[in-house]
Amino acid sequence: MTLDDIDIAELYRQHLAQCGRPPKTPADWDKRAQRMSSKQPGGYYANTLASRMNLEDCHSVLDVGCGPGSIGLLLAPRLQHVTGLDYSPKMLEQMMASAHRLGLNNVTPLLRAWEDDWHDVPVCDIAVASRSGMVPDLADALDRLNAHARQRVYMTQLVGGHFIDPELVTALGRTPRSLPDHLYTLALLHQQGIDAELSYIDVPGRLAGSEDFDDFARRVAGSLGELDADETERLRRWYNADHERATRGGAPMRWAVVSWVPPSS
Ligand SMILES: C[S@@+](CC[C@H](N)C(=O)[O-])C[C@H]1O[C@@H](n2cnc3c(N)ncnc32)[C@H](O)[C@@H]1O
Repeated sequence: MTLDDIDIAELYRQHLAQCGRPPKTPADWDKRAQRMSSKQPGGYYANTLASRMNLEDCHSVLDVGCGPGSIGLLLAPRLQHVTGLDYSPKMLEQMMASAHRLGLNNVTPLLRAWEDDWHDVPVCDIAVASRSGMVPDLADALDRLNAHARQRVYMTQLVGGHFIDPELVTALGRTPRSLPDHLYTLALLHQQGIDAELSYIDVPGRLAGSEDFDDFARRVAGSLGELDADETERLRRWYNADHERATRGGAPMRWAVVSWVPPSS
């Protein structure tokens, strides 16, 4: 068997189904919109991704799963036009409020899901999907990005597919379940004859910087669901065993930046 004999699109679907993660709805993301929005776009992850994007000869960007505009608003001053596509109305509201505050009048919101009809989604020089690629059908998502980018595509996905350090999850007595990651994207592109480029952005994990054990336990429960008494005790042992590791919140998160030239260009 070779890599080309494997139905990667189906493997991805099976992996996603196995991890048992309930699909997120627009309402789930609406609830997070205000918290995710910041006065000034930027921060380590967004600045690093933006700095790795080659905007040469590019005038427009389609930002898919744009959220509050973390990437699109950073790029807007260097482009003629940015279209931010998202299925969460509140995310788009936040993006447009920030665009107005920043005096950016070249940003257009588009209320749309990955899986909706995209016939009127503009084809742009660049398509970017930053931290928004956990879709039911990855092969279809890549086709859409390819069809809507003239020059380059950028996609970021969580390496290893764990938002929480799997060693911590194991220490609680649970089985860590990974989400499918960038390797599926690389393999699907490879099967289409596309040689993607790959780099990484490391950021502190979600549990980093907690004030004390109670704060830490709250954050763990926020990600993994309520902990019972035994799990809380196990978590306390993990927390107390290594203060430095506890402050870091375990392993950092590593985002893969996959970029490529779409086949049509
Ligand atoms: C983690 S946020 C990323 C936001 C931004 N791109 C960033 O990197 O900060 C994921 C975003 O994708 C959007 N999203 C998730 N699933 C989607 C779908 N099926 N169709 C459109 N947008 C979706 C969410 O509403 C949310 O705004």
